[in-house]
Parts: sequence; structure tokens; C-alpha cells
Amino acid sequence: MDTTPSIQPAVPADYDGVVELLTAARLPIQGLSSRLPHALVARDSGGRLAGCVALEVYGPVALLRSLAVSPERRGQGLGERLAGEALKLAAGAGARDVYLLTETAAGFFPRFGFATEDRSLAPEPLRASAEFLSACPATATLMHARVRG
Ligand SMILES: CC(C)(COP(=O)(O)OP(=O)(O)OC[C@H]1O[C@@H](n2cnc3c(N)ncnc32)[C@H](O)[C@@H]1OP(=O)(O)O)[C@@H](O)C(=O)NCCC(=O)NCCS
Repeated sequence: MDTTPSIQPAVPADYDGVVELLTAARLPIQGLSSRLPHALVARDSGGRLAGCVALEVYGPVALLRSLAVSPERRGQGLGERLAGEALKLAAGAGARDVYLLTETAAGFFPRFGFATEDRSLAPEPLRASAEFLSACPATATLMHARVRG
């Protein structure tokens, strides 16, 4: 039996499961729309959520947030698949610059073209986002990648 989780657009009914994943990963919930627009979930064959990722899209700029894989599913390539799909989603939504904030995974993102950037260079709409204003500590690392359309 294939136990590889499938990655699909999130639906509002996934919200509680996403909150559970983010809580287990110690990631913030603030500012995450319960409708989960521009979000993806990895669902195992039993329908259980194994991972998630979300984008906040501000025209040509997007914030990649809420990337989490359930503790028992880590180390199997799922985080990499979710991040890759999120970048395709960002490009499809018209974003050209994707940013993220991380406290624990700065070493994970360079493989997708992300590089550390000074927080003062973050575009204005991101600075007004919940992640920037309250959810992520000032010590979180800002990373930026250009995406291809
Ligand atoms: C970060 C996270 C999403 C990675 O998911 P995962 O499914 O375990 O990752 P993968 O199995 O796809 O790992 C791919 C590679 O990234 C590396 N990696 C995984 N987590 C990493 C981290 N936190 N820092 C640096 N490298 C990491 C793996 O060692 C692996 O390397 P390899 O290809 O050389 O073997 C997962 O550990 C997680 O949910 N962490 C808590 C939440 C978090 O920090 N989210 C990111 C901030 S938005």
C-alpha cells in the first residue's frame, strides 16, 4: 500500500488539523485565515494531516508561513515536497518574491533558493502582517527567494 501522503489545496475543514500541526511544531497561529486560502495540506491515506504550509499573498510579494510536518513524519522528504509545492503556488498566484521568518529552520530553506536578508529590507505589506508584528520574535531570521513565473 502506498503510504506517501498526497499534497492538496487545504479546505476550511482542515483548519483544526492545521492548528494541531502548528501547535505541535510551536509555530504561530496568529493571522492564519480559517478559510486557508493559498494553503496546502499533506494528507495520508487515512485522511489524517501529515503536514501543511500556507502563503499570504500581497501582489508580487508572498509570505511563506506555517510549514510544519507532524513529528512522526519528519525526515521523509515531506517538508521538502510541501515547500516546493508552496513555491509553485506562489508563482501561480503571481508572486515574484517570497519571504519567510524562521527561528529553527534557516538551514532548511537555502535548497529552494532562499537566502538570509536583513529584516529592515522586508517589503511593507509583510511588515504589517501578524507574523511580523507579533507572532514571530524579533530574533527570527528573515529569508527571501525570487520565484520564477
Ligand atoms: C522544518 C520541517 C518542515 C522539515 O520537514 P521534514 O519533512 O522533516 O523535512 P525533509 O524530510 O523534507 O528534509 C529535507 C532535508 O532538510 C533537512 N532539514 C529538515 N529540517 C531541518 C531544519 N530544521 N534545519 C535544517 N535542515 C533541516 C533534512 O535533514 C533533510 O536534509 P537532506 O536532504 O540533506 O537529508 C519540519 O522539521 C518541521 O515541521 N519543523 C518544525 C516547524 C518549522 O520549523 N517550520 C519551518 C518554519 S516556517
